[in-house]
Amino acid sequence: MKLLAATTNQGKIREISEILSGLGISVVTPHELNLTLDVKEDGTTFAENAAIKARAWSRAAGMPAVADDSGLCVDALEGRPGVLSARFSGPDATDAKNIALLLKLLEDKPNRSARFVCAAALAWETGEVILAEGVYEGGIIREPRGSGGFGYDPVFLDPELNRTLAEMSPEEKNARSHRRKALDGLKDLLVKSGRLGS
Ligand code: IMP
Repeated sequence: MKLLAATTNQGKIREISEILSGLGISVVTPHELNLTLDVKEDGTTFAENAAIKARAWSRAAGMPAVADDSGLCVDALEGRPGVLSARFSGPDATDAKNIALLLKLLEDKPNRSARFVCAAALAWETGEVILAEGVYEGGIIREPRGSGGFGYDPVFLDPELNRTLAEMSPEEKNARSHRRKALDGLKDLLVKSGRLGS
């Protein structure tokens, strides 16, 4: 079975390929199909946005497609930035500006608990979608630490390891991340769906 990884992010493509390997699935990329698509992510939840992306790419490519949508939810900010994580600090947002705004808003907040959430969606050519969600619980520290990763990684602390995601190797992060859990869940659903040989 051929499956489109509905993203141009190389890290995500690698992760999707690794997780789905062994299921007899060959993962293809938009680049390999010479396909570009600008999908409007106007859902109000991660699951809605993941499904919107997966359906649009599947329709455009004429094959099943996997997409994900993720973000940071902070308890003291009533779940913000949530689905707006990438654009939290406005239209010219950068990772540094987003982190600066987050730390400013949390300056006098004693509750620093937060979680990364990821929804992974697989859309079939029929428009039918299966969805799984993964959560990574942690906390927001007061000063960025580490140089790895992307996004909010330098301020997101794993409470068990007492390290930020930016202080982990890619392998360490990928083994426990919200994205990993969502993709593992999707893999289980896919196997259970009986639409695969294994
Ligand atoms: P996307 O789903 O990959 O578009 O991610 C949306 C936004 O959420 C990113 O631009 C980041 O700001 C944030 N985000 C999602 N996952 C992570 C992560 O693993 N580390 C840091 N930031 C993340």
